[in-house]
Amino acid sequence: MSHTVDTIIIGAGASGLFCAFNVASFGKSVLVLDHANKAGKKILMSGGGRCNFINRQVEPRHFISQNPHFVKSALSKYGSDDFIALVNQHHIAYHEREHGQLFCDDSAKDILDMLLKQCQDFGVGIHLHTVIDSIRATDDNGFVLSTTHKKDGTTTTYQCQHLVIATGGLSIPTLGSSGFGYQVAMQFGHTIVPTEAALVPFTFTDATGDLIKSQAGLSLDVIASNDKISFTLPLLFTHRGLSGPAMLQLSNYWHLGESITINLAPQTDIAELLLSAKKSHPKQLVRTALAGILPKKLLTALENHLWQAHKDTELANLKDDTLRQIATTLNAWTLKPSGTEGYRVAEVTRGGVDTHDVSGKTMGSRLQPNLYFIGEVLDVTGWLGGYNFAWAWASGYACAESI
Ligand code: FDA
Repeated sequence: MSHTVDTIIIGAGASGLFCAFNVASFGKSVLVLDHANKAGKKILMSGGGRCNFINRQVEPRHFISQNPHFVKSALSKYGSDDFIALVNQHHIAYHEREHGQLFCDDSAKDILDMLLKQCQDFGVGIHLHTVIDSIRATDDNGFVLSTTHKKDGTTTTYQCQHLVIATGGLSIPTLGSSGFGYQVAMQFGHTIVPTEAALVPFTFTDATGDLIKSQAGLSLDVIASNDKISFTLPLLFTHRGLSGPAMLQLSNYWHLGESITINLAPQTDIAELLLSAKKSHPKQLVRTALAGILPKKLLTALENHLWQAHKDTELANLKDDTLRQIATTLNAWTLKPSGTEGYRVAEVTRGGVDTHDVSGKTMGSRLQPNLYFIGEVLDVTGWLGGYNFAWAWASGYACAESI
């Protein structure tokens, strides 16, 4: 069997589906191929099942890439208001949460259904269960793809003039992720910025790990930072390590071997508090002076871990410097994660196709005519908060407009 269309998009995820109906809306014939048994699996899982489909405020600073200017053009062409207008047009009910995050009221399925309806209305074909065996560029700068159907083994040849790679990153392999997009990029001479799990919880193996696990379930508002950035957000202690928005955001900026710092009591200057308690209540213990500042169970664990030698010493008998050191461990608790929970749970993949060889205006390869990369397969990683979908929509639109 063989099919000839103007544009083939590999990957029926967020960016692929969005790009597909936009290309078709400009009058081109479009086919989307995916090896999975279902389109848009990650969309269904996103935002805890409610899909944080965009953020009210999307700016280049919300994205990480070795080429920070790359996102500017696409984001300026297709922004939050455009996507919100589409969501409104489809009468999808949504609400705003903190920091401008927009979520569906009912289900992430509303967003997937919207994309599929748009594809259907513009005549986009979607072929699932399709394994791409090979891709070859033709003399007229088109492409020939050889595929095998996963279920019945039939082989099909597809020909197209434009080929869009929208295969996403490596996170959550059970949702269809593969390194295929990187292989295609390398086949055509692109380089790959090393990939790592991002928007992912941290793990700890030492005594700190035991302390953290003992607090599983506890959530606190903290300032989490490293030498690159700071986030004031909730932190969650889990049986595996540290999670919650503060940690996920920081993981985007973290590399193995680096330390992170957590201010466990951002509202309180603990050194000031302890030094003044020493004067006003000299017989108090550190834990008594700090009661109410941190949850009791956490305070006890920290005391045993960080200032055990002084835990039963009255403030009057502790040197000011010792109190300052204790304060630092709480206002700037410095930890060295042993790693992250990895691609199994990561929301995104940092790194990917190097954007220096891709046009920021069209998403087209600078090395192979009519080849495009969109979405997470590129070295563009968004913050938590609807930014990764924002990139899927914006890059998909920029690509569609240029085909
Ligand atoms: P995406 O991963 O969506 O799609 C890639 C497609 O390519 C898949 O359908 C896959 O099957 C297909 N594919 C892969 N390899 C292939 C191959 N070899 N052959 C054929 N097809 C292949 N972001 C956000 O902004 N708000 C949110 O609420 C969330 N929530 C969230 C929760 C969870 C659990 C995860 C894992 C991720 C999120 N994200 C998110 C991130 C967001 O889902 C992600 O960035 C986008 O889906 C990326 O869109 P893409 O189209 O690039 O890839």
